Amino acid sequence: MARLPILRYPDPRLHSVARPVAGVDERVRRLVDDMLETMYASDGVGLAATQVDVHERVIVMDTSEQHDRPLVLINPEILKRSEEMAVNEEGCLSVPLIYDRVERPARVTVRALGRDGQPFELEAEGLTAVCVQHEMDHLMGKVFVEYLSLLKRDRIRTKMLKKTRDELRGK
Ligand code: NI
Repeated sequence: MARLPILRYPDPRLHSVARPVAGVDERVRRLVDDMLETMYASDGVGLAATQVDVHERVIVMDTSEQHDRPLVLINPEILKRSEEMAVNEEGCLSVPLIYDRVERPARVTVRALGRDGQPFELEAEGLTAVCVQHEMDHLMGKVFVEYLSLLKRDRIRTKMLKKTRDELRGK
């Protein structure tokens, strides 16, 4: 397994729309394993392939308390969204150290293929529902800061560009 570099907002590649995975083969399983390693190493609860510059519909997540229940969603589709909405604070490995409130359906039912290529359905609520919707947005080229006001988004963009510049200078 290998740790993959994570694209940082406002990298334009984060706005690519991912294509469906044609078949769950060795290559896809290796991608899934590398994404899981990258997510755990970064203390994240979710990672979309888009964030590691692979534009295919693959998500990994782990919203368990002990971080010992990896969840893999390949070609995920939302079957049902609750009318009830919930506001939660979100963060993103592509937007480090920025957290803000986003409103989304409180519960969703998702169908996807697992790492073994077998279809399954997931009824998600709470953090898992937030995470699956956040990661599925990534596959459509959408980053959570796009739910925030233009003013906030501009501030975040400036902050991220400065952070990247400082890191390149070794500050
Ligand atoms: Ni994210």
